[in-house]
Amino acid sequence: MENKNITFPKGFLWGSATSAPQTENMGPINIGGKSETIWENSFKNDPDRYFEQRFCEGDFYNRYKEDIKIAADLNFNSLRFSISWARLVPDGINVNLEAVEFYKNVFNECKKYNIKVFVVLNHFDHPMWVMEQGGWENKKTAQDFAKYSSIAFEKFGDLVERWVSFNEPVGIIEGQYWYDVHPPFENNFKKGISAMLNLNLAHALSLQEFRKSGLSTEFGLILNITLAVPRSKSESDVKASKIADLFQWKCFMDTAYWGKFPNELYDLLVERDLWPSSINIADYNKEFLKEKIDFLGVNYYSPLRVKSLDYEPVFDESRSQVTPETHFYQKYEMPGRRMNIYRGWEIYPKTIYSILMRIKEEYENINCFISENGMGVQNEERFRGENGMIQDKYRIEFMAEHLMWIAQAISEGSSCNGYHMWTYIDNWSWINAYKNRYGFIELDLTTPDNVRREKLSASWIRNVIKENKI
Ligand code: BG6
Repeated sequence: MENKNITFPKGFLWGSATSAPQTENMGPINIGGKSETIWENSFKNDPDRYFEQRFCEGDFYNRYKEDIKIAADLNFNSLRFSISWARLVPDGINVNLEAVEFYKNVFNECKKYNIKVFVVLNHFDHPMWVMEQGGWENKKTAQDFAKYSSIAFEKFGDLVERWVSFNEPVGIIEGQYWYDVHPPFENNFKKGISAMLNLNLAHALSLQEFRKSGLSTEFGLILNITLAVPRSKSESDVKASKIADLFQWKCFMDTAYWGKFPNELYDLLVERDLWPSSINIADYNKEFLKEKIDFLGVNYYSPLRVKSLDYEPVFDESRSQVTPETHFYQKYEMPGRRMNIYRGWEIYPKTIYSILMRIKEEYENINCFISENGMGVQNEERFRGENGMIQDKYRIEFMAEHLMWIAQAISEGSSCNGYHMWTYIDNWSWINAYKNRYGFIELDLTTPDNVRREKLSASWIRNVIKENKI
């Protein structure tokens, strides 16, 4: 691609994504009237699962003013948070007034700096009482989620510009039921499919509540659209990539956008005896909304390269030990690929362009933005310069390349209207804890008061936003 100055459209949304469980103080002591979440419970019972046995040491709950000022100093015009369900409605019935006050304070603080507030209602965490009733496998959880959503709309509706039901619902299924990385750390394919249906339903019910609330702001969904790229043009590789797309994004995108669970995925699962017998697809399809989301958030880090299976998959009797990546397609390692070795993710910026063009072509160019993109790096202290600042040139390069491809897509008519990085201050990354750091701002956990220090990328992004160009 030609290397030149590129200006972004006026009003382009610049900012960052964060989430409650990764930043608020969710530690062993539940401050502010919050109830226990699946993460706290899992860490309490099995700390060895977590890198260096570390749990979230974030202190946003007490230092939100300072952190929002940092966002303002970076010239952000928008910022994404998630609300903790366990904080707002700790027992599922009573609203926690301390939580209402806390989130109102946070959102009002953003207003002071003209920062638009985007709120996600669920970012990989839910209260333990939800887990105890069967989590996302239980249809009732979808109804409870709708109730919780309506409380959030009522309490914060006037302070939030964009609402999102879920961040990466596929990540919930993969993490909780298929690949053993989120509590309850199960390997059970069919449970994952039940959860997929109930998450889709929870999204639809939440959107319904939003429309009922009469708010004139927008409601959307955030998906991790890895985009399955086939190894070759052979029929079997292309077929494998189409199946990967069904599992990766169409299961949510098509259901939320066209109001119907994709037939191809349903047929495929029924054919292999992988459909949960308790789920009647016609009943669910009746409950999904024909009404479309107002916008789509695209989280993109890495492409999903796939090839057809080079072995015959074995389906166990109960069909529990099945995963998409072992029974439907295999991951393909492209020779010479560029890697983020710390996270094990390929770096391939052009895919962000391909995703945006597919949204344009296949989903009526729905209003969208890049809701996450970023680079997690281990041991960043080794890049500290003489002035004490981490010289994260790799992060600047990563962002610049992705932004160039975003600009290319916009020039070809993509509706993409923003770019949020994951994330502006280093934070806790689930079972990877503090292994990989993503921020423009270093969070120095070796200091007693968790000092925040700018990295080189902070001044770069500040300037890009100021100029609205790269
Ligand atoms: C996204 C999630 O999938 O990736 C974030 O929405 C997460 O919560 C981010 O932190 C980076 O991944 P990780 O596992 O390295 O933290």
